[in-house]
Amino acid sequence: MTTLTPDKIHEEVKARYGRIAEEFQLETAAACCGDEADTCCSEGDMFSDLYQADTSWLPEDVTGLSLGCGDPITLANLAEGLTVLDLGSGGGIDCFMAARQVGPTGHVIGVDMTPSMIEKANRNKAKVGLDNVEFRLGQIEAMPVDSDSVDVIVSNCVINLAPDKTAVFREAFRVLKPGGRLAVSDIVTQGRFTPKQQADMASWTGCIAGAEDVADYVAGIRAAGFSDISVRDKAAPEVELAGSLSLDEGVRVLSARVTAVKPEVVS
Ligand SMILES: C[S@@+](CC[C@H](N)C(=O)[O-])C[C@H]1O[C@@H](n2cnc3c(N)ncnc32)[C@H](O)[C@@H]1O
Repeated sequence: MTTLTPDKIHEEVKARYGRIAEEFQLETAAACCGDEADTCCSEGDMFSDLYQADTSWLPEDVTGLSLGCGDPITLANLAEGLTVLDLGSGGGIDCFMAARQVGPTGHVIGVDMTPSMIEKANRNKAKVGLDNVEFRLGQIEAMPVDSDSVDVIVSNCVINLAPDKTAVFREAFRVLKPGGRLAVSDIVTQGRFTPKQQADMASWTGCIAGAEDVADYVAGIRAAGFSDISVRDKAAPEVELAGSLSLDEGVRVLSARVTAVKPEVVS
C-alpha cells in the first residue's frame, strides 16, 4: 500500500491539477476529474449544475475550467467593499464572480498551490478585465495572507484535497477579521473511508478519498475557534448535519454547503 504523507498528497494533487490547467482546451472542457475518467466522474450530479449565480458573462475559458462541487458565491451573500479570499482558486471562476459582487471598493485574493493554475487564472483575469482580483501561489495550510485581513472566505471543492484540514481551518481563522465568515462548498462524507481507500491517489486527487466524515470536519472547524457552524447537503439542504453522528457502516459521499463565523470577540 502507498504510504500517505502530506508531501506525497500535495505532490499528487499538484500534478493532477497542473495537468488539467496545462491541457485545458475549450473543446475538452474539464470536470473535477479532467480527462481521468475515474472516481469522481461516477459521482454524477455532485459535480454538475453548480451555479445559481449568473455565470453567463464569463468567458468559456473560465467556465470551462470550473472544477468545483457547489456554489460558494451564492452561499456567501457578498456585498460591495468586502475583502474575499478563495481557497484553491483554480482557473478563477469564483474569484471573478466575487470580484464583480464586491466591486471596485472590494478586493479578492485567490490562493492556489499549483503554478500552472495561477498562470491560467492570471490569463483569465486579463480576459475578464477585472482589476480588483489577484492570485497568490501558496498552500492553504499556510496561507500567504495577513492575519485579520479578510471578511469572507470562499472555497469550492478544495479542502477535501488537503491532507491536514485542521491546519486549513486554523489558517482560515487566523486570516479572517473578527466577525468574518466561511462560505465553503466541499465534499464530505457520512462514515469514514478505510486507510486502504484513502491511499487510492486517483480517488483522493479526484475529490473523493480525502473527504472527511462530517463529524471530524466540524470538529476541525470548531477546534480552530469558529462558531455558528453549519453543514448541509447540497442535495437536501433542509437537514442540518453539523451535529450528526457518523454512519456505523459504509460511506456516503456528499457535496456540502459549509458556513461558520469567527466570533467578534475571540476568547
Ligand atoms: C478541484 S479544483 C477546484 C478549483 C476551483 N475552486 C474551482 O471551483 O474551479 C482544486 C484546486 O485546489 C488547488 N489545491 C488543492 N489542494 C491545495 C492546497 N493544499 N493548497 C492550495 N491549493 C490547493 C488545486 O491546485 C486546484 O487548483
